[in-house]
Amino acid sequence: MGKLQNKIYVVTGANSGIGLAAAESFAEQGAEVVLVCRNEARGRAAQQKIQQTSGNENIHLEIADFSSLRSISTLADRLLARYPRIDVLCNNAGGANAGRKLTAEGFELTFATNHLSGFLLTKKLLPSLLDHEGDPARVVFTSSLGHKNSPLDFDDLGLEKDYGTLKAYGRSKLMNLLTARELHKRYGDSKLIASSFHPGAVRTPIWSKGGILARLIGLVMYPFMWSIEKGADTFIWLASAEDAEVLSAEGSYFFDRRKPRIAQFATDEAAAELWHVSEQLIEPYFEA
Ligand SMILES: NC(=O)c1ccc[n+]([C@@H]2O[C@H](COP(=O)([O-])OP(=O)(O)OC[C@H]3O[C@@H](n4cnc5c(N)ncnc54)[C@H](OP(=O)(O)O)[C@@H]3O)[C@@H](O)[C@H]2O)c1
Repeated sequence: MGKLQNKIYVVTGANSGIGLAAAESFAEQGAEVVLVCRNEARGRAAQQKIQQTSGNENIHLEIADFSSLRSISTLADRLLARYPRIDVLCNNAGGANAGRKLTAEGFELTFATNHLSGFLLTKKLLPSLLDHEGDPARVVFTSSLGHKNSPLDFDDLGLEKDYGTLKAYGRSKLMNLLTARELHKRYGDSKLIASSFHPGAVRTPIWSKGGILARLIGLVMYPFMWSIEKGADTFIWLASAEDAEVLSAEGSYFFDRRKPRIAQFATDEAAAELWHVSEQLIEPYFEA
């Protein structure tokens, strides 16, 4: 028994770092939790760990690769068929990539993994998220302070001209912030609470996965980084608390349970244009 009993939580990137910590908390609070992971062995390990620590058996595993829109589209179809009502979607999977790489579908890897896939998943799951009975559904995006790195260039979203690990990562995290804002604008009246957050610089495996630059920054920052527990706090709060600030999040960006100043270029116009462009890019993958 817990306060999230009978609620369905979908958490992407749930086998590691703050996604795992958040999924564990939702399980402890009694939710039925769907862990979305790309690797079956790592996903099973996370599922077993969460079941053991929380005593909650209602933990499910779905395998999907966020570098493939096709994979995310079929994931969404499986979720829609199984869960006519989803209470909370946590778009958390992501990371940085050294060197510009293209996915098999032709998108720049960081753009596809950190933004386009979560955008497609959110759009496809709307029928299960909108206007259901009871509490409003929530969609939480894991963004980053890195969103302040640089504005979007809509003529070069795939960074063909001047790729940089931090530039690609920062822009994808700006996209997470903007998508939460535009989601609220479009669906806030339909009982949907959208938000995004920066978890802080957190001691998770992410720093070892993004190439030499990420590794170096991780090493230098390590002593000053937050624990995973502290980094997941705002995440868990946005996804599960009944506090007034959360219920009236209105697409806002949070850090440490507060609304900090965001980049000046994170405008409503950029959010609307990004939504429009993203819709066009995912369109061929909408029907799996
Ligand atoms: N740690 C920080 O300081 C920090 C700061 C700001 C924002 N963030 C954001 O926080 C979120 C979680 O990161 P974390 O720090 O907790 O790092 P993490 O432990 O590496 O977790 C990232 C999760 O995303 C998954 N993922 C990555 N690429 C994927 C793909 N193509 N398909 C499916 N899943 C994929 C990872 O799976 P694998 O385990 O299989 O790699 C992992 O489960 C990310 O969006 C990150 O950008 C982190």
